[in-house]
Amino acid sequence: MKKIASTSDPLWYKDAIIYELHVRAFADSNNDGIGDLPGLMSRLEYLKDLGITCIWLLPFFPSPLRDDGYDISNYTDVHPAYGTLGDFKAFLDAAHLRGLQVMIELVVNHTSDQHPWFKAARQAPPGSAERNMYVWSDSEEKYKDARIIFTDTEKSNWTWDDTAKAYYWHRFFSHQPDLNYDSPLVMEEMLKAMRFWLDMGVDALRLDAIPYLCERDGTSCENLPETHAAVKTLRSAIDAGYANRLILAEANQWPADVRPYFGDGDECQMAFHFPLMPRIYMALRQEDRLPITDIMAQTPPIPDNCQWALFLRNHDELTLEMVTNDERDYMYFAYSADPRMRINVGIRRRLAPLVDNNRRRIELLNSLLLSFPGTPILYYGDEIGMGDNIYLGDRNGVRTPMQWTSDRNAGFSKCDPARLYLPVVMDPIYGYQVVNVEAQLSDQSSLLHWTRNMIALRKLFQVFGRGTLTFLNPSNRKILAYLRELNQGDGFRETVLCVANLSRFAQPVTLDLADYAGCEPVEMLGYVRFPTVTRDPYVLTLAPYSFIWLELQVASAVEEMPVD
Ligand code: GLC
Ligand code: CA
Repeated sequence: MKKIASTSDPLWYKDAIIYELHVRAFADSNNDGIGDLPGLMSRLEYLKDLGITCIWLLPFFPSPLRDDGYDISNYTDVHPAYGTLGDFKAFLDAAHLRGLQVMIELVVNHTSDQHPWFKAARQAPPGSAERNMYVWSDSEEKYKDARIIFTDTEKSNWTWDDTAKAYYWHRFFSHQPDLNYDSPLVMEEMLKAMRFWLDMGVDALRLDAIPYLCERDGTSCENLPETHAAVKTLRSAIDAGYANRLILAEANQWPADVRPYFGDGDECQMAFHFPLMPRIYMALRQEDRLPITDIMAQTPPIPDNCQWALFLRNHDELTLEMVTNDERDYMYFAYSADPRMRINVGIRRRLAPLVDNNRRRIELLNSLLLSFPGTPILYYGDEIGMGDNIYLGDRNGVRTPMQWTSDRNAGFSKCDPARLYLPVVMDPIYGYQVVNVEAQLSDQSSLLHWTRNMIALRKLFQVFGRGTLTFLNPSNRKILAYLRELNQGDGFRETVLCVANLSRFAQPVTLDLADYAGCEPVEMLGYVRFPTVTRDPYVLTLAPYSFIWLELQVASAVEEMPVD
């Protein structure tokens, strides 16, 4: 029997606006310096007012927290610092009551070395079912074609275990042993964990580090057919037992390698578009649309029930794995002057500091995020232009407490400031005295108000989440222009023309809109009528870093239409 879902539309994720946050970073209800579920619950109205429709929670499970919770020691409970299972249920119900969906993490690839499965495995005899829940070897020679991902901390994907007297396999930190998907027990346990949260009513699962589930000698140990088979098993269990749920693939891969994670619409409904993200920053810095149009040209079509997940920033470094060597050099040069800003193969900075706190550039990037084909994901704090702290270790610089007010600890917690899980940002530009929710709520021209308006606008037009994309090809390459179109049935077609100026100077552009002759463009933010489209080139002038969205309305019947 299908379980009741929190939403009636099986394709709800196509129209969603996702907000990514860490419970620990959002709001602290008991003033111990650590954000918690009751704290998050008290901020649900804020999220509702922002207009987002789905909350993505980073891992909140019991964990030694050596990888911010991606090192799980129990899949079916809540870390005591964040609350109880009861608190989670209360949060989930409160979110659903407000029409918000909830996505959580299913960390399928690895556990903490403190997980009881691993503790048992290292004690168990070689070859036993318990031992085989992880990947063991007598030598480091096995699977040597697999790359190292955390290049700053790890020298090998194998670590010696003195208790087991063998090496165990790990694609990430050495305290995160990889699960062995050749063991039926592993899939059985993962299905149990998945059902535990789906039964409770969780709407979506982000499948963490999905390309690395299976390993085979002589391969890169990424995206193997066996891995896809495992993902399909998870998906069929969802389809068999639940309605309107979603799995999102975290596969940091080239578009052609991500495409198989959608299967024939029977694997993941969503996948992140990793290669697009750095190219948006590149296009902005080079004032040239080519990096964007080029990667979109390499992006294969996906099944009808599937959707790309788009983002500008997240809790990790701005990854530069999916770019060429030259592009990587350029990105490091352009966006990380201080070597402290770099980690692994990427840049650990937030959105606002990446673009020198330039409001027009922040808005331009968000306009792309909100109008490109896919579902946009906002990272907490970026809606108020929060800064980062590059002096904190690992990726903690982009994981500091949410800045609510100019009060002590940014209104995040009333604890002794020394007790905070991470210090709040305090510098004179991005510090909480200047950048905070309260101040921006009372300022009608704040980034927060702008973001709210844009989200509200996007939600009025289904074409953004569901329509096709066609690039126009104006000779001025500093201009990125594209059409989004959706057939609404009954001959009604929603057509939106988006034009963005990637340059720091004003730019003219002439667009070939002959196919739309007779249409009446209406600027969507102000509902301002623009000159009717004719067969002649359509001329626009754009201010520095500006964008314009025009709905191309079919002219009313009374007016003369050019015919031929
Ligand atoms: C994913 C997470 C990252 C984590 C890694 C290893 O890539 O996004 O934060 O460190 O998995 O668990
Ligand atoms: Ca707390």
